Order: sequence, then structure tokens, then C-alpha cells
Amino acid sequence: MKIIKCKDALEVAKEAAELFEREIRKNPHLVLGLATGSSPIGIYDQWIADVRNKKISFQNVTTFNLDEYVGLDQNHPQSYYYFMQEHLFRHIDLPQDHIHIPYAQKNHLKKSCKSYSEALEQTPIDLQLLGIGANGHIGFNEPGTSFKQKTFIVNLTEQTRKDNQRFFTDLSEVPHQAITMGIAEILKAKKIVLVATGKNKADAVRKLLSEEVTTDFPASALHQHPDVTVFVDEDAMVLSS
Ligand code: F6R
Repeated sequence: MKIIKCKDALEVAKEAAELFEREIRKNPHLVLGLATGSSPIGIYDQWIADVRNKKISFQNVTTFNLDEYVGLDQNHPQSYYYFMQEHLFRHIDLPQDHIHIPYAQKNHLKKSCKSYSEALEQTPIDLQLLGIGANGHIGFNEPGTSFKQKTFIVNLTEQTRKDNQRFFTDLSEVPHQAITMGIAEILKAKKIVLVATGKNKADAVRKLLSEEVTTDFPASALHQHPDVTVFVDEDAMVLSS
């Protein structure tokens, strides 16, 4: 695991965005795994600026998102489908039919998991972007999840629901379930980049860097992968240095 220490979140975003762009220039048909939440927003802003400045093109790229809340309509402002359109997709030249996000409407859950796993088998991810939950989740693989897990319906922990409450008006509105890519599928990506910024990630970063591998801390599965780069800022490192 390669650790890249940056001054702040802006530097993390710039460095990580540049790593992705270098890989896309090497292979314009790259298959990307993408994340939602606060962590990737700076990276997406950089990509948007660079597409506008014609520094990079996503025309031949394919994307797979990590997860989606169960039961939120795609037009719900907190659905991850909506998030991705707002923060990235509608601003860049990525064709809409190159986009994959788990379809998490209530009557389709099992079928959606199966078809997502099949799609990932057919189109393996070259480069996966991850954030990390305060409890060490990657995607929505909560503590206790097997490292062999494929795409599944997860019951979100109360900590995750509370952490994500900031995006909703009230805790009661935060869904209890999500569909997430499984840890086995994340580990199948050829290359993985994880970004962690801010003091609220310091404990998770400390645990990740301790190198102990345990299902109690899902991100520790990344120690089993040969090509992981972690970008952290000074705040996220306060408990580690
Ligand atoms: C989001 C995802 C989650 C987040 C994690 C950190 O698609 O898979 O694992 O990366 O919850 O969220 P933020 O970045 O909001 O702190």
C-alpha cells in the first residue's frame, strides 16, 4: 500500500485526479469504479475543469459506481444516481450508456445485485476510487462483511446512517439499506485509489495504516491487494504520525 501525504483536501483532490487522468491517457477505454459522498467531490471538480479545458476526455471511459440507497427514486436529490449526475456526469463527455449504478428500487433488489455482479464480471474494473467510512467501510461494506462478498443488499449501521444524516434533513429520512458492490469485487479492480481527508477520518486512517487485517475493519481488506494508493491530508493523519 502506497501512502501519499498531502497538505490538505485540495491537494489530495488534485493529486488523485491527476493519477486518474494519467491512467485514462494511457488507456482511453479505461473502466473506472466511482464513489459518492464528500471525499470524491474535489476530484470530480478537477475532472470537470480538465474536460472543459480539453485536457482529458471521458468519451470512451466506462464507469461503475460502488453503491446506491435502497428505495430512493433516481430523481431524489440524495440518491447516488442524482449525486453522480449533479457532481460529475452531466458536466463531462462520458456517454450516459457507459454509466453503471446499482438499480435499488424495492421490487428489483435481488435481480439488480445479480445483474450488477454479472456486469462486473464481464467488464472488470481497471481503476477503483474509494472513500472510507469512519467505521472503515468501503463501498457500503460494513464491519463484519466477508472479504468474499459480491454485490449485495446491506443493512446500514446506525453509525453510517448518522454519518450520512448531514446530507438529509432528518435521520429518519436516511435509508436503512443500500446495494453495494462487494469487497471481492472491489479487490478485483486492477488498481485502487483511496482518499481520506479531515479529522473525522483520522481514526479510520490510523487503523488502516496499522496493517491489521480483519473483517471488523473492512478497508483492511485492501492490504490483500497488490496495487493500492492512499491519498491522505494532514488532518486525516493526526493520529498516525
Ligand atoms: C460512497 C461510498 C462510501 C463513502 C464513505 C465516506 O459511494 O461508497 O464508502 O466513500 O462513506 O463518505 P464521505 O466521503 O462522505 O466521508
